[in-house]
Amino acid sequence: EVKGVIFDLDGVIADTAIVHHAAWKRLALEIGVAFDDAIGERIKGVDRRGSLDILLERAPHAYSEDEKEALASRKNEYYKQQIETFGPQNLLPGARHAVESVRRTGLKTALASASRNAPLLLERLGIAELFDYVVDANHISRAKPDPEIFLAAARGLGLEPSECIGVEDAAAGIASIHAAGMKAVGVGQAQALAEADLLLADVAAFDISLFTT
Ligand code: G6P
Ligand code: MG
Repeated sequence: EVKGVIFDLDGVIADTAIVHHAAWKRLALEIGVAFDDAIGERIKGVDRRGSLDILLERAPHAYSEDEKEALASRKNEYYKQQIETFGPQNLLPGARHAVESVRRTGLKTALASASRNAPLLLERLGIAELFDYVVDANHISRAKPDPEIFLAAARGLGLEPSECIGVEDAAAGIASIHAAGMKAVGVGQAQALAEADLLLADVAAFDISLFTT
């Protein structure tokens, strides 16, 4: 029986997957690394440092740890510049309704975001109160596709993993949900989300009655 739904933030609730993508692409171009949609899909949902490491697989020369830190910070500055003006208008269409409908059904809701900017974003979007529990990258040590973040979210809700479903827009996230022992709903491009148990075009199509009846 499903008792809780755990949502990813970037690309599921917030219209920020494209902002992360654009910031990485800008950095890649600046350091002479080829950036295409395949790389974009691979880094989607992956934490900051993991994303950089994927990008640097194609770098023309090696970088020291300090240089890598500087590159990651630079990308984060680009990202933060863009979300400076973000507000409720930057929720993805249907996102608020999807989460509210879960709550109305009497189920619990949590957020599992790999982003260290998640608390800031939740505040700006005005949706912090929609979640019974929030886990962001500041609380965990192993990034998606490791199951840690979804397991922590279930624990925070006081539920067994098998009582939860996860909602994700990234392949790394679907893998994390499955490794946690949960059913996974994918939102977005079918190709990247082949492993999802249920695939939806967007979060607006999310309907909790699919799982409760
Ligand atoms: C989310 C996004 C990723 C991003 C990661 C880390 O999972 O989907 O694209 O790399 O968070 O975000 P941060 O804000 O900590 O750099
Ligand atoms: Mg995402």
